[in-house]
Amino acid sequence: MTKTLAFSGKGGTGKTTIAGLVIRYLIENHLAPILAVDADANSNLNEVLGVEVTKKIGTVREEAIEEIKRLPPGMLKEKYFEMRIQDAIVESRGFDLIVMGRPEGPGCYCYANIIFRKYVDAIGDSYRFVVMDNEAGMEHLSRRTTKDVDLLFIVSDPTFRGLATAERIKELVGELGLRCGRIHLVVNRVQGELPKDFLEEIKTRGFTEAEFVPEDRMVSELDLRGQPIFDLPLDSSSMKAVEEMMSKVLSETLKQEAFVRQNGDRLRGHKTPVF
Ligand SMILES: Nc1ncnc2c1ncn2[C@@H]1O[C@H](COP(=O)(O)OP(=O)(O)O)[C@@H](O)[C@H]1O
Ligand SMILES: [Mg+2]
Repeated sequence: MTKTLAFSGKGGTGKTTIAGLVIRYLIENHLAPILAVDADANSNLNEVLGVEVTKKIGTVREEAIEEIKRLPPGMLKEKYFEMRIQDAIVESRGFDLIVMGRPEGPGCYCYANIIFRKYVDAIGDSYRFVVMDNEAGMEHLSRRTTKDVDLLFIVSDPTFRGLATAERIKELVGELGLRCGRIHLVVNRVQGELPKDFLEEIKTRGFTEAEFVPEDRMVSELDLRGQPIFDLPLDSSSMKAVEEMMSKVLSETLKQEAFVRQNGDRLRGHKTPVF
């Protein structure tokens, strides 16, 4: 069954970087096939992953909606959309990538868009992991996908104000009715030891699961030279932190799955979080 991991958080906190490191972790641990989804309009996940993007979903959608008007009779519109969406999938080293690009404008809830979205959602089903890098807000996520997110990582900088923003995003998820199996806070760019007050604040803000990724000089150096995060040595401090975070998260998944298997009958008919 596909697991969908999504990243959210204020701009500049490190969503794209950590999404890239998580994809690298999944590849290194033979957990492919992986679909990376860049759902941030100001996107650069492809740069972090070191791949070039020629077509974005937004462009393909607009082209396809025009093209179906001229389709020969007998050709199914849905089939055509499905085919065109394939054009926007970039295949790379151990993962595929789709870049959403420009979002649908307001009022674009027409039939064609609904069908199109259905196929974009369906792409993920053939992968073991879908890793989505999102914008700061969560509204677009509810607009763009009908899918449940198994695990949402809310990324924050190590400041009290950052935690307040992270909490607002968490609340928004509830208000928008997004279905999330679990929410983990990720405090990124940590330098030295975090004060006790800060750790207390994490709990006060209602986060029960928190992960920490250190400030990593090697990430800044790669960034400075315009090189992909994929070139980061596996023993770098941020990569090691992500490895620890992911092995914890994945072992929770296995436990959860075993629990669901053992209690299958009792749980049938209920929506159970996969994480
Ligand atoms: N752990 C880290 N150590 C050092 N630099 C980092 C770390 N995480 C992110 N950065 C840097 O912070 C900047 C913003 O990161 P980015 O992932 O683009 O944030 P977002 O996607 O949330 O806007 C980038 O220049 C990135 O290289
Ligand atoms: Mg980003």
